[in-house]
Amino acid sequence: MDKKITIAIDGFSSTGKSTLAKQLASHLGYVYVDTGAMYRAVTYYAMEKGYITTDSFNKEELIADLPKIQLQFKFNEALGFAEMYLNGNNVEKIIRTLEVSRLVSKVAAVSEVRAKLVEQQKQMGADKGIVMDGRDIGTVVFPDAELKLYMIASAETRAKRRYDELLQKGENVEFEDVLQNVKERDSIDSSRADSPLVKADDAIEIDNSDMTITEQFEKVVQLAHKASQL
Ligand code: DC
Repeated sequence: MDKKITIAIDGFSSTGKSTLAKQLASHLGYVYVDTGAMYRAVTYYAMEKGYITTDSFNKEELIADLPKIQLQFKFNEALGFAEMYLNGNNVEKIIRTLEVSRLVSKVAAVSEVRAKLVEQQKQMGADKGIVMDGRDIGTVVFPDAELKLYMIASAETRAKRRYDELLQKGENVEFEDVLQNVKERDSIDSSRADSPLVKADDAIEIDNSDMTITEQFEKVVQLAHKASQL
């Protein structure tokens, strides 16, 4: 039998990381962790407290409150995936809105926030058998992961995916706003001082601009089996 491994999936927003990670975790019987949801939940907390708005950010107040922020994933049997809870409340839906997307990169650039979340992520992966997606999983959280994937796709392809998702959820958004948000986040996520998005030297690049979800899944399942036999 294959040994349990750690699978790290990194890449810009809407490169299809979570779709792939969920499929892979369910196929392998692994735990799936969406680390973007954790940064989004902290952002939502800061918004609710008024620490961050579109034109102001009081980092110090957020940093002082970090010990009060409790994040938890709870598996929802009906949905087949884990939902994000912030201090006991289900925030799964609200953290996916464009309002949160607009501010999350600023919160994710705060080193104290990153330190807290990275620590929790390392603990979640202590027993292996995990698929984790984010921006710094293969570089910072699990530099020893047996399989590292780095996903890429053009900004337009990614914005179209995000736009369709938001429309499906009943959100009233313009494509141009979504595209601008994708580009802005790309720029902040890859230029921040602490743990910018970079491809780990040993990561395998997957460009899915022209790949179907099934083709991509089959390719990655093969890579996972190979990595778990090494
Ligand atoms: O994957 P996502 O779009 O839900 O991520 C939301 C934001 O969180 C994104 O702009 C970058 C940040 N993030 C991060 O800095 N590190 C991670 N491991 C995951 C997400």
